Amino acid sequence: MTLDEKREELAAAHQLIQAKYDAGVPFFTKVLFRDLVRQLESNGNPDQKVSVAGLDGLAVQFPVETGQEYPGYSSNNDDRVCIITKPRLLYRTIQELLAVRDPNLYSVCRAYLPVEVAHSTQVRDTQTNELVYPWPATDYATVRSRFEQAKRSLETSHNFAQLKAALTSVVLSPGNGVDKVVALACSTMTWADHDGAMPSMAQHILALTVRDVLARRYAAGPQRKGVPEIQCYAQDPMYMPIDEQVLDEAGFIVLDDPRAFLEVDESSVVIAIAPDIPIRQIVADIARPAIMIWEKFDVTDTYRTDPVSPRVKQMMEEYIELPFPSEPEYFGNLAIYVRRGG
Ligand SMILES: C[S@@+](CC[C@H](N)C(=O)[O-])C[C@H]1O[C@@H](n2cnc3c(N)ncnc32)[C@H](O)[C@@H]1O
Repeated sequence: MTLDEKREELAAAHQLIQAKYDAGVPFFTKVLFRDLVRQLESNGNPDQKVSVAGLDGLAVQFPVETGQEYPGYSSNNDDRVCIITKPRLLYRTIQELLAVRDPNLYSVCRAYLPVEVAHSTQVRDTQTNELVYPWPATDYATVRSRFEQAKRSLETSHNFAQLKAALTSVVLSPGNGVDKVVALACSTMTWADHDGAMPSMAQHILALTVRDVLARRYAAGPQRKGVPEIQCYAQDPMYMPIDEQVLDEAGFIVLDDPRAFLEVDESSVVIAIAPDIPIRQIVADIARPAIMIWEKFDVTDTYRTDPVSPRVKQMMEEYIELPFPSEPEYFGNLAIYVRRGG
């Protein structure tokens, strides 16, 4: 294909993508995520491929590389090996799908894909087979005790008292309940540096606090020991085994990408702070959660990893904004969004 032909194909892709977007066709769907989860779960064959349908209706195949050695890494590190682990998704915003690309560097078959399949990696010591953390990390006992300490201290803090009061003022219409809190992109708690680990700890503790306050008022889930149950889910591809263990013990169900998106529905609270994937664009396509706690909405915020889009703007108009008690160190500039009329 000549460069001019490639350019024409990319222009045609943009036209079709824009037309579908304007017509309201969702780009991220639970059907797509469910299908990807099904394909990833049936993985086991090293030659397996995962097929992703593009917006042009054509499928693109991605190889599953789990278990293979990451090429290039070990040549400079005799005592370490880098292994390709869990598949994860790359989510592409409407801005990325419509961006003008250099036809020399861009493959036309990717142009129609809101989602691509990539992988996480793990570095191991070749002698001991132990996991080598890519950042200065601490051990399980320290993470667990810091988490418990942070929970005690935040739960009795002035800010959390204000947060609880704000959540108590939330009014959902009768018959509308909350049965889960979905915490996305809260990052790893394993940083050796205490201050470095605190935002992640605080964000997970926020999810537990939201669960506890709302359980007393709105739980729609089954009751356990007479108390309505709200389940907490957490998803972040950055989690290490220590995160998973501490979160499991704290009452979270940790999910691999993209399973947490399958839990997002009308009875969920979604928490997402500074994600580096377009969570607002994904949520705008898949559901209208009861409550969302995330970055304070700014219509001009269209350039970052979770940019505002016309659909995000439309979704946000369906929500009432409540102030989130300021704690910029751990949470940034957040707001609480409650679905109007329910
Ligand atoms: C800029 S960091 C913010 C971390 C943390 N929320 C904070 O405020 O410090 C972005 C986070 O998004 C996470 N992330 C990337 N892809 C994700 C996915 N598919 N699902 C959930 N989280 C994801 C990254 O692993 C990372 O922890």
